[in-house]
Parts: sequence; C-alpha cells; structure tokens
Amino acid sequence: MSPAPASASPAESDLVRAARGLPVSRTPVWFMRQAGRSLPEYRELRAGTKMLEACQDPDLITEITLQPVRRHGVDAAIFFSDIVLPLVVAGVDIEIKPGVGPVIANPVRSVADVDALPELDPAALDFIRTAVGRLVAELGPTPLIGFAGAPFTLATYLIEGGPSKEHARTKAFMHAEPEAWARLLERLSISSSMFLRTQVDAGASAVQLFDSWAGVLSAVDYAERVLPHSRAVFDGMGDGRAGEDRVPRIHFGVGTGELLPLIGEAGADVVGVDWRVPLDEAARRVGPGYSLQGNLDPAVLLADRATVDREVRRVVEQGRAARGHVFNLGHGVLPDTDPGVLTHVVELVHELTAK
Ligand code: CP3
Repeated sequence: MSPAPASASPAESDLVRAARGLPVSRTPVWFMRQAGRSLPEYRELRAGTKMLEACQDPDLITEITLQPVRRHGVDAAIFFSDIVLPLVVAGVDIEIKPGVGPVIANPVRSVADVDALPELDPAALDFIRTAVGRLVAELGPTPLIGFAGAPFTLATYLIEGGPSKEHARTKAFMHAEPEAWARLLERLSISSSMFLRTQVDAGASAVQLFDSWAGVLSAVDYAERVLPHSRAVFDGMGDGRAGEDRVPRIHFGVGTGELLPLIGEAGADVVGVDWRVPLDEAARRVGPGYSLQGNLDPAVLLADRATVDREVRRVVEQGRAARGHVFNLGHGVLPDTDPGVLTHVVELVHELTAK
C-alpha cells in the first residue's frame, strides 16, 4: 500500500482540501458502508451484539470505525453509527433487522403521532463525544467524517414503519397533512443537527448528510417541502470549531439526478452522486461552486478485475471535470464485496491521481 501523504492535520488532508476545491496530493477515497459486513473482522466483532447496541458502545464504535482505515488505507474514516440512532436515543422504539433495515414498532401515521415524538436530550449523546474523542486521537492526520440522516429519509422510516420501495405513505402524508409534515421534518432536523454538531464539536473533520431516499421526489416537492429542512440541519450545526474554517459538508442521496442542483443549494460543499449520472455531467448540473463525491457502481466491484479497473479509470477521468473530487461508490458497499477489491481500488485511484 502506498504511504499516506504526510499532511500535518486532518484539516489539511486531501479529503478536506478536495471538499473545498483546493489542490490535493492525490484524489481522496473512502467508501460509504466501508465499516460493515464486507469485513470478516467486523462480523467477528459484532457477533452476539445487536446493531443498535453496538452503535452505543464507545469501544465497539471506535474499533469498527478504524477497521476499514487500517485494512484499506482509505483517506477518511466514517463514524460507525446509523441514521436512526438519534431517534433511538430519544426513546423511539426501533430495531434494525438484519438484511431488512430499521423497523419502527409504532409508525407515525397521524398528526397526534407527530406531536408525541420524544425530543432528543443532548446529554444523552455523551457516548458519541467519548467515541469521537478516542477516534480523533487514534486517527492522527486521517479525517473522521461525521454523519446524520436527513429529515426526509428519517421520515420515510418513521411513516412507512420500515424500509419501502415506493414511499407511498410518506408522500401521501406530505401532501395530505402539510402542516404536520413540516412539524415532523422540523423536529427531525433539530435532532439530526444536534447529532452532527456533537460529532463536529468532538473533532470530526467533515460531515455527510444522507438523504438516501430523496430521489423518489419531484424537484418541486423536494424544493418546497424537504430542502428547507435539510438546510436547517446544516444551519443548525454551527460553523465548527472556533478558529478553523467551516467543516466541509457532503450531501448525498440515491437517484437524485434531477435534484443535483438543489442538493447543493441545501448548503453543501460536496454533492454526492450515485452511479446513474456521469461525474462530468453532474459537474455541469451542480455548477462551479461545488465539489463532487462518487460514483462507482457498487455492483461493479463484484465483476472481474479488468472491469473494475476500467470503471475506476472512467470515474477518475470524469471526476476531473469537478472543482474537487472525492472518490467513492455511488451507494454503500454491498455485503458480498471482496474486501481485497476495495483495497485495490484505493491503490488504483491513488496511483492514477498522484501528483
Ligand atoms: O461504514 C459506514 O458507512 C458507517 C456506518 C453507517 C451505517 N449505516 C452502518 C450500518 C452509515 C453511514 C449508515 C447510514 C444509513 N443507515 C443509511 C444511509 C446510507 C445509505 O445506505 O443510504 C441508511 C438508509 C440506513 C438505514 C439502514 N441501517 C439500512 C438500510 C441498513 C441495512 C440493513 C441490512 O442489514 O442490510 C442498516 C443497518 C446497518 N447500518 C448495518 C451497518 C453496518 C448492517 C447491520 C449489521 O451489520 O448487522
């Protein structure tokens, strides 16, 4: 593995510099869901512990977050947690079912259900401060990315009661109960903001807001009924640590080709792109003020090595059209991905882009 560039601090790392559109020593790489079931050491560590218990244990959070950094030499760690965690900590009855995703015992289906949602107490997030503090100390110059789920994607789980393809109940609620919808998203924006702010105050060097399912919306509905609440998440997290520049903000969703300019306008420095829109076209859609993150199709990692290499080269080339490029997948690592292929992709991107 090629040695990491000797940047003095995470604030000067290639990840942070690419996010700001500054020159880099080579294109930074990390993978959504890099910590997780593609790693045997993860499966071993998680055996016998429920997902949401692991997410509240500072020792497990720290170790699981570090595993992919050690193994692959990625340019950033992503905090091991889950988008539903702020809801869980606030007291909402949620379980993450293996192979399914978050399942809610009492879905939000009425105006009264919205008003009955518990509020998040910042004091309940101490385990996050502990874990982030330890991680920042262990990671040295490698940046830690904090994250949160965006209000819309969290609302889909709360309203549907679990994962869904169409998100029909969510969209019906959005149109039929506009005031309760706005209240629900406002409440979710406050807890997401608190979750991000806690990670940044404890030392995270960048954040990513996951609005995974926003791509099911029309641009008009997104702009009017969702974007203001995602912007509130970013606005509410403050400017980061005193005396430093604003911590870069990455904003990502799947199937957001029609929404890309709006995803930027919500307050991002970096727009995350899935595999459907080539990065040169995405750069045209978002305009000059944004860096891009993405966008290798995660399924390509299951193909032969020549195909992987060809697709990595294509993404790297198309990424040159952007103000700055953070190499990533178009969505999370699939569980049956060979971890050796991920390490290879990191090496190849570094080799192709070394100055
Ligand atoms: O490595 C990382 O990216 C950091 C950790 C992370 C997890 N979830 C760990 C996890 C992050 C950033 C998330 C965010 C998340 N969670 C999102 C947004 C990202 C995306 O995929 O769009 C969403 C939609 C969720 C909700 C969720 N949690 C789903 C759909 C699942 C998968 C269910 C399954 O088992 O296939 C989870 C569970 C989950 N979150 C796992 C991990 C490692 C797997 C659970 C396990 O290992 O037992």
